[in-house]
Amino acid sequence: MNLPNMKSAKIRGEKNVEYRNQENLFSTQFEGKKYFIRTYGCQMNVHDSEEICFIVENLGFQKTEILEEADLVLLNTCAIRENAHDKVFGYLGRVKHLKRNKPDLMVAIGGCMPQQESVTKNILEKHPYVDIVFGTHNIHELSKMILNHQKKQEIEVYSIEGNVYENIFYKRDSKITAWVNIMYGCDKFCTYCIVPYTRGKQRSRKMEDILKEVYELKEKGYQEITLLGQNVNAYGKDLKKTLDFATLLEKVAMIGIARVRFVTSHPWDFTEKMIDIIAKYDNVMPYIHLPLQSGSSKILKLMGRRYTTEEYLTLFHKMKERIPNVAITTDIIVGFPGETEQDFMKTLEVVNTCKYDGAFTFIYSPREGTPASKMKDEVSDFVKEQRLQILNERINQYSLENNQKYINKIVPVLIQGISEKDKNKVYGYTDTMKLVNVNAEKNTIGTIILVKINAAKSFSLDGEIVISTKV
Ligand code: SAH
Ligand code: SF4
Ligand code: F3S
Repeated sequence: MNLPNMKSAKIRGEKNVEYRNQENLFSTQFEGKKYFIRTYGCQMNVHDSEEICFIVENLGFQKTEILEEADLVLLNTCAIRENAHDKVFGYLGRVKHLKRNKPDLMVAIGGCMPQQESVTKNILEKHPYVDIVFGTHNIHELSKMILNHQKKQEIEVYSIEGNVYENIFYKRDSKITAWVNIMYGCDKFCTYCIVPYTRGKQRSRKMEDILKEVYELKEKGYQEITLLGQNVNAYGKDLKKTLDFATLLEKVAMIGIARVRFVTSHPWDFTEKMIDIIAKYDNVMPYIHLPLQSGSSKILKLMGRRYTTEEYLTLFHKMKERIPNVAITTDIIVGFPGETEQDFMKTLEVVNTCKYDGAFTFIYSPREGTPASKMKDEVSDFVKEQRLQILNERINQYSLENNQKYINKIVPVLIQGISEKDKNKVYGYTDTMKLVNVNAEKNTIGTIILVKINAAKSFSLDGEIVISTKV
């Protein structure tokens, strides 16, 4: 048993990260058995789940979408806010109930929650029906843990990040779009955020390994890849050679995959060179997720974000000027400790200036072990809820206005599947990441088609195909 330790998680080791090849265990032991997986949190977790699926399928398990059918239940968890944590424990209640009638059911919890000391101790003390607990740094050990599992609870969570593994296989959810990790962890330590503790120090993958993966995805027919990292703009800063994200992005673009995206961008590391590369290459999509967090420089300082409101706005305007037709979305937190009415008004002012294409908005949630959780919080829950509501109304209004500008325009859309709203339609995304429900044949799935937009809502567009040939 190996429990996590938050103090150790803070230490950024001097030891060089080793690049190792992952060994994938193969077994027929679980042939005929089924697994069920539920994923919480960000794109990193979604992509980690693709690795987890490959690992368990290599042991013979087959996927089921029905919880009650499963012989193995996997929860890939998120720790970013208290409600993420509550959702997982709520779901565990259902699983516990199921295990009463099915004692051989194996329950495994992974992801960011077990990286928190208190969570893993809680599972150990109060949730004995959980069989396996693994962390974000030892997904590669999951097959061993499942194969070795006897009756006893097995907990293996590293406090300090492990090495960077290459040769990872994924069972990708899509044959059209794919995630590509370019780095792991985060060194920014924004004062409210748990991620640097749950994901460890920043470790960039080597450029040649990333390029090889992208090349292989292109060969397999993928139309779009998204370069993934908590802070993609800091790519390479931890490597010995002077490498930067702009160089990587350019090399990825030159491989010639139809669409290249990246997420997430921290404003602090965003260079002019990156803006130029995005503007220069047609296959680098004109879409940037640029978290603001707060429009008040005072709060940004308390958050440890390392930019002022003015610096953020300067960067924002440069992007809008130099990248034709760029769409920009953001993340905003309300109710951070010490946020006054005036500070909140400043956030609204920035929103009014930037008129974002969309935003994820959150009420600040204190996370144990982070500096902000010790700051004095005088904002009442009522005020926080009110601010969130006011902010959301404003955000939705601008998304709608931005979307309405698309009406009667013809735009390229990568069609990804059957529309959830209407089975006779397909859905896809514009280059600017707008969701579009399209009147078109199913055989357009997997291709980029031209679509005439005829209606706009806050969160999606409606349109019809105008040219059926690939563009
Ligand atoms: N690496 C990304 C963000 C990852 S977390 C970045 O720096 O932009 C996604 C979002 O969750 C953050 O942008 C932030 O808005 C929000 N978030 C993170 N910690 C939070 C907390 N303790 N309470 C509320 N929201 C939080
Ligand atoms: Fe968290 Fe800040 Fe790192 Fe983003 S950059 S993951 S908000 S610490
Ligand atoms: Fe959540 Fe971990 Fe992502 S805390 S947001 S799953 S990095």
